[in-house]
Amino acid sequence: MQKPVYVLNGPNLNMLGLREPHIYGSETLDDVRAMVEAHASKLGLTVSFRQSNIEGELVTWIQEARAAASAIILNAGAYTHTSIAIFDALSAAELPVVEVHLSNVYRRERFRHRSFVSPVALGVICGFGPTGYLMALDGLKARLAASPPSAH
Ligand code: DQA
Repeated sequence: MQKPVYVLNGPNLNMLGLREPHIYGSETLDDVRAMVEAHASKLGLTVSFRQSNIEGELVTWIQEARAAASAIILNAGAYTHTSIAIFDALSAAELPVVEVHLSNVYRRERFRHRSFVSPVALGVICGFGPTGYLMALDGLKARLAASPPSAH
């Protein structure tokens, strides 16, 4: 059986639904989790969906993914724009990574235009709200079918 796709969410994403709904929408993170799990199951994939406000915990999960996951979907929240530790962990993971943002970070403040995730990502999806996570699963499904992950 294929290893799960780790769907990792960074700081403040536990506040979805309450947090700036004009930017991030009205769905909660639990709603997003339900959408992601349903879509994954349609595609024949399994997911491990997690959220942390702590940079080091995200780093630990990315390290764990190297052996335990087939791919990573990552919305690193604000750590996207600051975290060399997450960049290093993703580089070492040697897995396909899809960077997701709910909002279109390129039409927002300049400090959101720099990403430490993009240089180590297979692809980047932003601006589609929670649908972006489903698009990431579709992209990974095609990629994993074309080149199944090698065992570490
Ligand atoms: C975000 C965009 C980031 O710039 C921001 O810090 C977030 C959420 C998004 O999903 O649009 O926390 O990653």
